[in-house]
Amino acid sequence: MDFQKQSQTDESLQALSEIAQVINTIQEIDPLLEKVLEIAMETLAAERGFVLLKSAKASLGFEVKSSRNFSDNQLGDLTRISTSVVHEVLANGEPLLLFEAQKDPKYREQESIVLQKIQSIACVPLRIKHRQIGVIYLDSLTKRSLFTRENMPFLTTFANLAAIAIENAQFYQRLRDENRRLRTEVQRIHGFDEIIGQSPKMRQVFDTMSRVLDSDASVLIEGESGTGKELVARAIHFNGYRKDKPFMAFFCGSLPESLLESELFGHKKGAFTGAVTDKRGLFEAADDGTFFLDEIGDLSPQIQTKLLRVLQGGEVKRVGENQIRKVDVRIISATNKVLLELVKQGSFREDLYYRLNTINIQLPSLRERQSDIHILAHHFLDKFTAQKNQHIRGFDKRAIECLKRYAWPGNVRELENTVERAVVMTKGEWITPEDLQLPQDSTELVQTGLTLEEFEKRLVQKTLEENTGNISETARGLGVSRRWLHYKIKEWQLPTK
Ligand SMILES: Nc1ncnc2c1ncn2[C@@H]1O[C@H](COP(=O)(O)OP(=O)(O)OP(=O)(O)O)[C@@H](O)[C@H]1O
Ligand SMILES: [Mg+2]
Repeated sequence: MDFQKQSQTDESLQALSEIAQVINTIQEIDPLLEKVLEIAMETLAAERGFVLLKSAKASLGFEVKSSRNFSDNQLGDLTRISTSVVHEVLANGEPLLLFEAQKDPKYREQESIVLQKIQSIACVPLRIKHRQIGVIYLDSLTKRSLFTRENMPFLTTFANLAAIAIENAQFYQRLRDENRRLRTEVQRIHGFDEIIGQSPKMRQVFDTMSRVLDSDASVLIEGESGTGKELVARAIHFNGYRKDKPFMAFFCGSLPESLLESELFGHKKGAFTGAVTDKRGLFEAADDGTFFLDEIGDLSPQIQTKLLRVLQGGEVKRVGENQIRKVDVRIISATNKVLLELVKQGSFREDLYYRLNTINIQLPSLRERQSDIHILAHHFLDKFTAQKNQHIRGFDKRAIECLKRYAWPGNVRELENTVERAVVMTKGEWITPEDLQLPQDSTELVQTGLTLEEFEKRLVQKTLEENTGNISETARGLGVSRRWLHYKIKEWQLPTK
């Protein structure tokens, strides 16, 4: 091998190793194409060049993605060259080498004028298996035989490597776009920033909420005290199409019955002692908006009947009046009792129950979504340290354990209060179990009068419940092996997922 050939081979290998590195490092399509072009042009000492990719959207069926040393007014030429030379390469999948191209009878007159200025052209397909995804085009305006047949094996191999890299980058780009789309979708689905929770049960809640935002369907929110019922009701209103209209929150247990009726439905002057003027009720005031009836289970039968009329036909009747007025309100109600139980006991109208319960949202207690305790605690910690301008780094390990172990009868509200108190009480940078001041017997489990086995069974059962039947999580929480847990579950016939 003579010296010149050897040095050419070295250069070729150098370029091939460079493209291999490009494959591993550049994931973005545009910089990748630029790099591919740069390597190709430098290695073959080309004066101009472009990379073009097939595109179903482009009118010619391909699109120049990256080009070098073409001035703006040459871009027209570039497309014209593309139509002839490029089409040929794309169609045949074979590299093309042209010298004195203008004399080639294959090219039409107009093309020849363009080609006249070009002394030599090398054009190779970017190929994945037998599919052409584009081409690399190089040319020279000054040198007649800049590209030689010896260049072609290198250029072809190089183009094959580049093609894989390009396809990977396109794939990566599609994934990223998809990811971004899904992320905005999730945000849209639950743009409920103030409601914290990632547990499966809360995801279910967000999912239901997002489905009912733009509808008028009545929503009944059930959940223990402090689980966020009002928060959810507000979020539904303020993310829905009625958001610019009134949101009226009304606590049904707050007033004696007679006053309650007039408050909700209004009254006519003289309807009762003290009714000195006509007064419109809250339902009328909430027209076009959302009415949130909190503690709905406390309503008297008489008010229940009147409420049913609002739900059935949007009709309200002021106390002491016969005239029917129309209102358009969306009803969201909440209760920490099990409303269906009240129906069974006969203290709540069944027809009203079904009207209120078109959409049902069950808010899980904090015990049912243990995995959220951690993030909720940090959320409140951030909130109160910012509010009180205090520097606290976090909860120490034991404090986290305490938070997780505690039964939280008051749910999120209790957790919120606990964290606020701890922020006030703590003297250090880390919140300790002592700062939390949680009741010691909080696990509810330690009680005398049980056999050890019975105690063991209850503990396993409760931990299983907390982990929604997940064996691995339960075993980890209890510090036992999965095998032991399986064995006990079978022995005691405990329900799992
Ligand atoms: N998922 C949550 N993320 C953040 N804060 C929450 C969450 N759930 C509840 N809270 C907070 O906890 C407190 C209690 O919430 P809310 O008043 O909505 O509960 P509730 O279910 O209506 O309680 P009650 O039955 O006692 O009326 C509020 O300060 C609320 O902001
Ligand atoms: Mg409430």
